[in-house]
Amino acid sequence: MVFKIGLLGLGTVGTGTVEILLNPEGRHPLLSELSLHRVGVRSLSKPRSVNIPEYLLTTDLEEIVIDPAVDIIVELIGGLEPARSLILQAIENGKHVVTANKAVISRYGSEIFDAANQKGVYVLLEAAVGGGIPVIQPLKQSLGANRIHKVTGIINGTTNYILTRMKNEGADFADVLADAQRLGYAEADPTADIDGLDAGDKIAILASLAFGGRIKLEQVYCEGIRKVTATDITYAEKLGFVIKLLAIAARDPHATPEQDLLSVRVHPTLVPKVHPLASINDVYNAILVEGEPIGQVMFFGRGAGSGPTASAVVSDLLNIVAVLQMQEAEIVSPVVTHELMSCTHQH
Ligand code: HSE
Repeated sequence: MVFKIGLLGLGTVGTGTVEILLNPEGRHPLLSELSLHRVGVRSLSKPRSVNIPEYLLTTDLEEIVIDPAVDIIVELIGGLEPARSLILQAIENGKHVVTANKAVISRYGSEIFDAANQKGVYVLLEAAVGGGIPVIQPLKQSLGANRIHKVTGIINGTTNYILTRMKNEGADFADVLADAQRLGYAEADPTADIDGLDAGDKIAILASLAFGGRIKLEQVYCEGIRKVTATDITYAEKLGFVIKLLAIAARDPHATPEQDLLSVRVHPTLVPKVHPLASINDVYNAILVEGEPIGQVMFFGRGAGSGPTASAVVSDLLNIVAVLQMQEAEIVSPVVTHELMSCTHQH
């Protein structure tokens, strides 16, 4: 059975996704069950680095989310609107959704997952946090046996790239930011990266998964790297530290079980050189999860950019296909698959 994809957005990540979908050789066999049906773009005349048949392209994104032939919508336009409305419209029309949109999920996750639960469709978001690093699915499932105490991450590739080059080369902030934009790491408006809001959205999502409940960006303390100077970096180095923009979600160890207090925050941090996160450089991200009984487990990989993020998008597509096929063959009931795929379980 072939599943038809409606792709919204052919920017950095959209292009990487199409490249994988159009070149399935040597990858997972289930890729042959996916077919690119429509691709929504801002302009039909823009030159493209990927060889995509022109008849697939349209500038009418709404037409794609209501197209009865489309099974799965992949939302890669980013930003809050029209992304949120298109996702909701897709769900309303019975489509599964794959998104890389951390801002929409962290701010409107409740509305989106409630709508998806009502309609019995899946909304997957592996690409929303950590680029190519598989971290959402592991937090949802593989670590389900644990009581998580703390999640600490370098989860913004742009700022980690900037801090690394400032430290290693004494590079100028503005020049390095321009490079991060050219390499496709930064958001369309890089303020979200620099001021810690992108990492804020991502840690809100990770905290919701790790600790249950729905944590929103406005509940996260966010401070970016704007005030970090070359002098700060030099003195940190002399004292045995590196400066990293850390995103942290932790249970308050002093709170009573009834209080169950959680602290969720993003800020530049002096990290001892011997700490596992101190050596995560350039566009790489890492997420250190601490829990009981597992102790520490760390996820590491490229946290932004076309190919790595597309890898996460396609992994979600493959998960949806696998689950839909199992349902079709009546190997598992929709109730079981719902629990496996759901982002809404409570701890
Ligand atoms: N702008 C983001 C970053 C992209 O730099 O991490 C990946 O989410």
